Amino acid sequence: DRKIRIAPSILSADFADFGAEIRAIEDQGADWVHVDVMDGHFVPNLTFGPPAVKAFRPHVTTFMDVHLMIAPVDPFIEAYAEAGADMITAHVEAGPHPHRTLQAIRATGRQAGIALNPGTPVEAVEYLLDLCDMVVVMTVNPGFGGQKFIHSQLDKIARLRGMIGDRPIHIQVDGGVDAATAPLVVTAGADVLVAGSAVFRGGSVASPQVYGANMAAI
Ligand code: DX5
Ligand code: ZN
Repeated sequence: DRKIRIAPSILSADFADFGAEIRAIEDQGADWVHVDVMDGHFVPNLTFGPPAVKAFRPHVTTFMDVHLMIAPVDPFIEAYAEAGADMITAHVEAGPHPHRTLQAIRATGRQAGIALNPGTPVEAVEYLLDLCDMVVVMTVNPGFGGQKFIHSQLDKIARLRGMIGDRPIHIQVDGGVDAATAPLVVTAGADVLVAGSAVFRGGSVASPQVYGANMAAI
C-alpha cells in the first residue's frame, strides 16, 4: 500500500511570482514542491542558486524537494541544505564518488536522493541504496521541462522496485509525467511523480484551480 505523491516542478511556474505559484499548487493538493537546480554544465540550462531556493522556502509548507543537476555537486550541498531543502538529490553521473556525495547530504541532516539519467543502468545505484531515501528515474534527458517521456525507463523502474525490496526508499519519476504516463510509472513501482508542464499547462496565478484539475488528472 504505497501512497502516491505528486511533486509539481516549479520549472514550469510563472518565474515572476513564485510565492503565489507555490501557494496555489499546495492549496490544490501538491504533496511536495520540486525545485530543479541546473548549472549550464551538467545540463544545458541554468536555473536557481542557493539564494533563490532560500527565497522559496518560506512559501513551501509541504516538503521542498531539491533536484541538483550540477557538477561538481559536493561543494554546494551545504548551501542548499542551509537554503532549506528537505530532500537533496544529486545525480549518480555528477562525479566519481556518489557514495561520498550521499554521505555528505546525510551529514547535513537532510534526506538524500540519487538520480539516474536515462542512459544509466539501474545497477549504478545498487551499492548506494543504504544511503538513500529516494532514487529518481529520469524519464527525459535532464535540462528542460516539456519533453517527451522515454518509455524504455519503465523497465528500469520495475527493476529498481525489485532491487529496493521492503526498504523505505521512494522511487521518484521525473520527466514527461502526465495523465497518460502516470499510470504506467505507478504500475511499474514509482511512488513520487514529478510533473512540470502537465501541472502548470494553461495555468496562471489568476486561476490556481487549473493546477488542481491538472494534478487530479495525473
Ligand atoms: C528536467 C527536470 C524536470 C522537469 C519536468 O530536467 O528535472 O523536473 O521540470 O518537467 P516536465 O514534467 O514538463 O517533463
Ligand atoms: Zn527535476
